[in-house]
Amino acid sequence: MTTLFFTVIPPDIDAAAIETAAALLRAGEVVAMPTETVYGLAANAFDPAAVKKIFVAKGRPQDNPLIVHISRTEQLYDLAEEVPEAALRLFEAYAPGPLTVILKKKPAVPDAVSAGLPTVAIRMPSHPAARALIEAAGVPLAAPSANLSGFPSPTNADDVSDDMTGRVACILDGGPCGFGIESTVVTLVTDPPRLLRPGVVTLEDLQKILGPVEVDPAVLAPLERGKAAASPGMKYKHYAPKAALTVAKGNLADLLLALYRAPGAYDHVLCFEEDAPFVPLPAVTMGKRSDPLTQTPRLFDALRDLDRAGAENALAAAPERTGVGLGVCNRLYRAAGFRFVEPDPARGRIVGLCGPTGAGKSLAAGALRDRGDLVIDTDLIAREVTAKGAPLLQTLEEHFGADILLPDGALDRKALASRAFASSEGTALLSSLTHPAIAKETVSRALEAIDRGQAAVIDAPLLYTAGLDAVCDRVVKIDAPEEVRLSRVCARDGIDETAARRRMDAQKDEYRMSEQADAVVMNDGDMKELIAKALAAVDG
Ligand code: TXA
Ligand code: MG
Repeated sequence: MTTLFFTVIPPDIDAAAIETAAALLRAGEVVAMPTETVYGLAANAFDPAAVKKIFVAKGRPQDNPLIVHISRTEQLYDLAEEVPEAALRLFEAYAPGPLTVILKKKPAVPDAVSAGLPTVAIRMPSHPAARALIEAAGVPLAAPSANLSGFPSPTNADDVSDDMTGRVACILDGGPCGFGIESTVVTLVTDPPRLLRPGVVTLEDLQKILGPVEVDPAVLAPLERGKAAASPGMKYKHYAPKAALTVAKGNLADLLLALYRAPGAYDHVLCFEEDAPFVPLPAVTMGKRSDPLTQTPRLFDALRDLDRAGAENALAAAPERTGVGLGVCNRLYRAAGFRFVEPDPARGRIVGLCGPTGAGKSLAAGALRDRGDLVIDTDLIAREVTAKGAPLLQTLEEHFGADILLPDGALDRKALASRAFASSEGTALLSSLTHPAIAKETVSRALEAIDRGQAAVIDAPLLYTAGLDAVCDRVVKIDAPEEVRLSRVCARDGIDETAARRRMDAQKDEYRMSEQADAVVMNDGDMKELIAKALAAVDG
């Protein structure tokens, strides 16, 4: 079949395109439409023959019911036998938006939509093109995600086109989907209500409106053999890329240790942006570790990117399991077929030790070393990675000129400093060249230690600046009042107050970022107490 293709990117939605697509829908055809979650394959929900065409286009099992999309709250009454108060409250709060509610269905809803269940799933999308299409069609639209069954849901029109050209009458390109994972599905047919599929409307959001909400066990675990699925979609292997995917549960340290312990087992890594610089394999990123709303628009694309990169065995980082992260976990765990590397409880911890100059960090580091932790001093590592013969020297020479090297090939640190620190661009360039090398070496030593159960303490004046906080299980900051630090720096380095202040000022950004530390130990002058407090803080 020929597939029409129209661009309907807001705000200037082409009304003629919408009308053409709506006419196809009224004539019983299937149209791929954008929504704010993922693209959907729409057909007139009251036309069983049209709905059957969706199943054919997707290659979808007939027992998996579809969500019906509406554009006005009143349409709930055309579809649901009863519209409970709770449904209206949910719609009030989250419609239009990425939320689907399951209610008892009216007989008018064909079995092809509900897959024979006595219930119907209903949602009101917020994407302007979807809303315009439903309005123009004049009927509710049954629509599953627009992927071939079993593959990742499409979040842009190119991916839809890859899967559906020749299989549907029309594709509407509404731009990339803002949320990128499918709607939250909650059933109000059970008491208490039950979350069947987590999404951008979170469990916590639902609980605020509904009170207690149960989480279906299939949200984070494979369905038990022989058990009926509350949501039939949870039975099937879903969202799977062609690559065999394994999720390393835990944090970045757990992911890196899993890679370290299984050399050659993986060829690609699916991780967060903060993680990528530490990963020793080609990496595909899925948003920021710290912000699940940057993960949802990337997730399915990232899974497709793994395939495009030719990945065969990929290891994935694990998202948080709360808030929007629960929705990301749900998709990723399924994409991985519930294959996990569990965190090793016996591994050592990686602890970042930071703090401004003059606060007493070296004292704490010494005590940690004395008790058997591996203390990695990043200043020493910085010297090593720029020692005579180190590959980094060549890179530095390319950027800063041949005269930063002495005749014997060793680094002329003074010359480099005068060149690099002359401007803020030069300083940034130097960091961008040296930090990755320092971080890489630091992490490789830390992994050796934690692998054998030893704690690795990263003693880094520029922990945050170098991005090393990302690999730490915990960050401890040693701090002291400014006046105390000032007099210590003067005494320690034999310099006057102006020079000491300049030295302290150079760490301003780091000092600001170190506000995120998990624990702060204040050095109030009692050394014994400082050490005791620092050891306790490192142990958490
Ligand atoms: O964001 C979304 O919901 C997207 C866009 C296109 O709106 N649609 C979507 O549809 O994700 P689909 O078919 O890929 O997923 C629908 C899920 C399936 O897991 C299905 O089993 C479940 O909702 N579902 C539908 N009707 C149900 C019902 N009556 N009872 C229980 N689960 C139901
Ligand atoms: Mg789907």
